[in-house]
Amino acid sequence: MGVYAVTGSASGMGRAVVDKLTAAGHTVIGVDLSAAEVVADLSTVAGRSHAVREVLSRAGGRLDGAVLAAGVGPAPGADRLPLIGAVNYLGVVELLDGWRPALAASGRAKVVVFGSNSTTVTPAVPRRTINAFLSADVDRAVRSVRWFGKGAAPILYAGSKTAVTRWARRHATAEQWAGAGIRLNVLAPGAIMTPLLEEQLATPSEAKTVRRFPVPVGGFGDAGQLGDWVVFMLSDAADFLCGSVVFVDGGSDAYFRADSWPRPVPVTRIVPYLTRFLRYPGSR
Ligand code: NAI
Repeated sequence: MGVYAVTGSASGMGRAVVDKLTAAGHTVIGVDLSAAEVVADLSTVAGRSHAVREVLSRAGGRLDGAVLAAGVGPAPGADRLPLIGAVNYLGVVELLDGWRPALAASGRAKVVVFGSNSTTVTPAVPRRTINAFLSADVDRAVRSVRWFGKGAAPILYAGSKTAVTRWARRHATAEQWAGAGIRLNVLAPGAIMTPLLEEQLATPSEAKTVRRFPVPVGGFGDAGQLGDWVVFMLSDAADFLCGSVVFVDGGSDAYFRADSWPRPVPVTRIVPYLTRFLRYPGSR
């Protein structure tokens, strides 16, 4: 049986993951604002370092996996912007940086980061917002969206999830991650019925947008089913899954972007690996 760290363990999809892992006999170290083994506010520097240290100590320096589900949703509110930035981006990358040696210690650890289909279905997310996140500059990311006014929260939310997804894909293939046996992947849910979505639906203008949004299979996703996807991505079945972004969104991403992906790798990226095919026949 394994030992898993789960952030956002007190509610919604994180909670569903905890229930399923615990029922299967695993040990779970939950991290959340309350009702968790490790109570920590991931929007603060002190909270994030407390979460890193406390989980490592409770796990005895060895983790079989981690699930990064804590997140702040895109419901409107100016005060919310710094929280979205800090929890959704730093609350993932700083924890994973801190936990990486413990994940490497298990030899074949699995990590699931919660992204979102907002990364591919939200228009007009500025490149500088994503770049600010990738430089770990949350203040700059927040400033870069202020001019959107009331529309800033969904843009920042999508920017934070895009950046955390790119961070995960960049690191997934690196020597310190894949090379250390850690499988790092991203789950990108669509609208799933959890307290986060309920909060959006409680705001009439937001509710209208959410309900009108195309979901080809219809309705909202179920937190328990998303929990099953996470458990699958933590299982042996995921031994060969690395740097993947798994969309479970009822078809919205495919509806809007059927032809956006897959795309061929740029020649400049692949050419060092092709040289032997480019030699003249007979040359060695
Ligand atoms: P939820 O609101 O039910 O759970 C989020 C959890 O994160 C809560 O327990 C909350 O206390 C915790 N959290 C928030 N701020 C925190 C902080 N400062 N420090 C520590 N913990 C904090 O939300 P849900 O829907 O289960 O979301 C899970 C993940 O899935 C989030 O990352 C969210 O962005 C993402 N997501 C959710 C979608 C949805 O429609 N519900 C769609 C796409 C992605």
